Amino acid sequence: MAKMEVKTSLLDDMIGVGDMVLLEPLNEDSFINNLKKRFDHSEVYTYIGSVVISINPYRPLPIYTPEKVEEYRNRNFYELSPHIFALSDEAYRSLRDQDKDQCILITGESGAGKTEASKLVMSYVAAVCGKGAEVNQVKEQLLQSNPVLEAFGNAKTVRNDNSSRFGKYMDIEFDFKGDPLGGVISNYLLEKSRVVKQPRGERNFHIFYQILSGASEDFLCKLKLERDFSRYNYLGLDSARVNGVDDAANFRTVRNAMQIVGFMDHETQSVFEVVAAVLKLGNIEFKPESRVNGLDESKIKDKNELKEICELTGIDQSVLERAFSFRTVEAKQEKVSTTLNVAQAYYARDALAKNLYSRLFSWLVTRINESIKAQTKVRKKVMGVLDIYGFEIFENADNSFEQFIINYCNEKLQQIFIELTLKEEQEEYIREGIEWTHIEYFNNAIICDLIENNQTGILAMLDEECLRPGTVTDDTFLEKLNQVCATHQHFESRMSKCSRFLNDTTLPHSCFRIQHYAGKVMYQVEGFVDKNNDLLYRDLSQAMWKASHSLIKALFPEGNPAKINLKRPPTAGSQFKASVATLMKNLQTKNPNYIRCIKPNDKKAAHIFNDALVCHQIRYLGLLENVRVRRAGYAFRQAYEPCLERYKMLCKQTWPHWRGPARTGVEVLFNELEIPEEEFSFGRSKIFIRNPRTLFKLEDLRKQRLEDLATLIEKIYRGWKCRTRFLLMKKSQIVIAAWFRRYAQQKKYQKIKSSAIIVQSYIRGWKARKLLRELKHQKRCNEAATIIAAYWHGTQARRELKRLKEEARRKHAVAVIWAYWLGLKVRREYRKFFRANAGRKIYEFTLQRLMQKYFLEMKKKMPSLSPIDKNWPARPYLFLDSTHKELKRIFHLWRCKKYRDQFTDQQKLIYEEKLEASELFKDKKALYPASVGQPFQGAYLEISKNPKYKKLKDAVDEKIIIAEVVNKINRANGKATSRIFLLTKNNVLLADQKSGNIKSEVPLGDVTKVSMSSQNDGFFAVHLKEGSGAASKGDFLLSSDHLIEMATKLYRTTLSQTKQKLNIEISDEFLVQFRQDKVCVKFIQGSQKNGNVPTCKRKNNRLLEVAVP
Ligand SMILES: Nc1ncnc2c1ncn2[C@@H]1O[C@H](COP(=O)(O)OP(=O)(O)O)[C@@H](O)[C@H]1O
Ligand SMILES: [Mg+2]
Repeated sequence: MAKMEVKTSLLDDMIGVGDMVLLEPLNEDSFINNLKKRFDHSEVYTYIGSVVISINPYRPLPIYTPEKVEEYRNRNFYELSPHIFALSDEAYRSLRDQDKDQCILITGESGAGKTEASKLVMSYVAAVCGKGAEVNQVKEQLLQSNPVLEAFGNAKTVRNDNSSRFGKYMDIEFDFKGDPLGGVISNYLLEKSRVVKQPRGERNFHIFYQILSGASEDFLCKLKLERDFSRYNYLGLDSARVNGVDDAANFRTVRNAMQIVGFMDHETQSVFEVVAAVLKLGNIEFKPESRVNGLDESKIKDKNELKEICELTGIDQSVLERAFSFRTVEAKQEKVSTTLNVAQAYYARDALAKNLYSRLFSWLVTRINESIKAQTKVRKKVMGVLDIYGFEIFENADNSFEQFIINYCNEKLQQIFIELTLKEEQEEYIREGIEWTHIEYFNNAIICDLIENNQTGILAMLDEECLRPGTVTDDTFLEKLNQVCATHQHFESRMSKCSRFLNDTTLPHSCFRIQHYAGKVMYQVEGFVDKNNDLLYRDLSQAMWKASHSLIKALFPEGNPAKINLKRPPTAGSQFKASVATLMKNLQTKNPNYIRCIKPNDKKAAHIFNDALVCHQIRYLGLLENVRVRRAGYAFRQAYEPCLERYKMLCKQTWPHWRGPARTGVEVLFNELEIPEEEFSFGRSKIFIRNPRTLFKLEDLRKQRLEDLATLIEKIYRGWKCRTRFLLMKKSQIVIAAWFRRYAQQKKYQKIKSSAIIVQSYIRGWKARKLLRELKHQKRCNEAATIIAAYWHGTQARRELKRLKEEARRKHAVAVIWAYWLGLKVRREYRKFFRANAGRKIYEFTLQRLMQKYFLEMKKKMPSLSPIDKNWPARPYLFLDSTHKELKRIFHLWRCKKYRDQFTDQQKLIYEEKLEASELFKDKKALYPASVGQPFQGAYLEISKNPKYKKLKDAVDEKIIIAEVVNKINRANGKATSRIFLLTKNNVLLADQKSGNIKSEVPLGDVTKVSMSSQNDGFFAVHLKEGSGAASKGDFLLSSDHLIEMATKLYRTTLSQTKQKLNIEISDEFLVQFRQDKVCVKFIQGSQKNGNVPTCKRKNNRLLEVAVP
């Protein structure tokens, strides 16, 4: 509902006409009256087509509120009453949506409201473009750059309390979505002469007053300043305070803005130090001093100020002082120093102050640009806002070089306006072949040419004059102008050849006049040359470069002696011309939007509408021509293709595709839509629409149609989406159902199966348990019977046992009790006879007695001393059992020792032999036990006593160990032959018993083995070493009654002689070597028919059998 109340056209509730195109009749009076009527009703904005005329209301109006911003946001240009916001919105939207770079050109006289308008545009764009923390910071920085630049670049003038004394062009950069990214500010020629001198009724730049009013005492002290304005020569006193301006508050705003823009504290401090230094420079005064050589020389009056400046800036005082008194001119190789007179010294001082300030200003712009520049490298869309100083005319020929420059700039802007609106538009109609009656307008190109022409232009001549050698003054410059420009229509001068001005007393001799598009302006030629030269003595720039103050040093790079440049710097005029040219080029690439500012009165007062003043402005701004062109022309044009593309959906034939040429398509379209024929025209390549309303109608239709189309597309899309979704779901449903059914059946089957198994298992289990129970019961019955029987038997047995035990215990108890009773009785009876420990003593005594008795008994019953006596008396007491056994052992050992001690050495030897025999034969040979009792005699045969054996005795000269008669078994028949067997230390000998002849002699070393049977016989074989001399007849098979003795002695003798143990083999079957044959000797158990003598029989060639009884 709220929207219903909102205006839908600027025609609603219109005061006068909102758009001058609709004005009827159209003439100057009606134009002014319409403006006046609207102005009186607080309608300060009026359109000429898309151009906004703005009249300065000089009072705050409630039309810039956030609600207003919302109202104008995204609305068509002609929908609401004229407003600067409508233009801003249009520009912003076509930048954002159609990707067209925009520029907003704000023109008008000084004080007409350009700067305010530019701020309104910026704040509107800031309000409607993107939001977000980052974007907001960018916006804030862009907006806050204004107060900073205004403080340093604006001043109170007679026309405007806040007049911009510099030109400003600001590019605001946006990304593709229309969010601001940053900006770039360009500044144009600051009016720096204002620093040292201000016209009457005007002030210096705001910042000086702001510091002195707003800074704290402390800060002022730091800057070595005093609060009193009158202390400073550079501050115009007559209008130091401006009504309605609070310098102190503004100072705080500026400092705050500097902080937001991103100035560091030390940077802010440096900036104010430079401002203070400039202010103090004005207080340096010079006095003349005559020199001997007649030349004037200046001297600083009071060095206190100089000293403070030097302290502030960190410049060596003597350096600065010298720079104020001397001027060094360098040419090629030469350096010439001249002294400065007082006037020159003042000139130098002011030049320094101006330069210092203007360079500071440029530095500020650069510094702000650094802060606000876009951070990304992405392609940017740009909206440029141009707020340049307005056209300026001072009365009484007070116009100087600055005004000349300012007005030149305004000429150029007017030129571009003409180019882009009037000329371009009319030329386009002709180009497009649209029927057109030409409209006359004043083209100011001729004035631009007068100023900027490269050969004959005023600026060119000024430069030429400045560079010319010889004396150059402002007058010589004027003379030159008079010669060159005399015939120019727009140039006037008393001295020009054009005689019509000779008598014009309003034109002083030192002046020239230019007929600007906005009016005639008389320029005072004085100062043109100097200002154009903009000369700063090199000594001063070098002194500045030497400052320890880093900002000042940076402001004067040319002061660096290492970078001395002898070329003249470009003049102020040519610099400005170049930068204006760049600006114009830049603007031409953008879509222009115009705000034409008009000043209603000269008094800066609200509600006053000065018809004459307004009329003058309307005339020179060419607004009437503007309306005429608009009216005759067409509000809107567009090439056929994009037009058809944009509106083709409004007609069935062209939608969705038009096959023919675009122009025919547009014709069909417009016919179909029944647009009146006078409303449009067909050009060669474009369609021209006369009235914006027609366009809006088209736009509205298109919007409606687009909505319908969108709905249609949405409908179809939704239908399609739902259908495909439905089909998919249906398909899925079938699949799912199939799977689910299968799954359900499977599950059901599984369930039934498992149930059946469970039931079955329960039944089986039940049956089995039943059986088990029965079996268990049976078994338990059996077991129980057995257990009961066993228990019963056990019980009976235990009862019987118990009874018997009881009986025995009772009997034993009776005995014990009886014994105790007897003991008690006896003890009672005999107690009187005993002492306390008599029992123990008795016990010991008894024991001693028993022992005594034992030993005495033993003495009596001692067995014989024979070691072989086995007798030992019986043990008398059980408790002496171990003692008795020990005693027996000791006795036996003692007895044996005794026995052994009786032995002679002879006997010992015999026993040793016996022992040896025992070791060799005990338990091995049956003959052995019989030999134990027989003493070993060795020489049984006394050879030495028997003369029969004298020969034998002689043959053997060694000691004879054995001499005995043995039987030698004949191997042929087993018969025995007697032989004498001798064993000496080294040999074994066999000799004939009768003759005593030695039959064989064997060294003991050749005897390898002695074999014998295990039985009770005396046979033995002496085996000889094979290959030895004795062995030729073979081994000896002998028989002797003293076999044991002989074998033992043979063993012992061999051992002592050869250190080798003789091998004695005891076996019932052994081999004997007879010559070449081996004969086996076998012992068998024979009969006793031959008595107790073993018999030997030859069984066969290889066997000799010995039968042992
Ligand atoms: N739209 C406006 N509403 C109220 N006051 C205005 C408006 N435009 C300008 N002014 C007043 O006019 C004065 C001069 O405007 P300004 O924009 O500085 O002029 P210019 O930049 O054209 O020289 C401002 O200080 C302000 O007081
Ligand atoms: Mg301004």
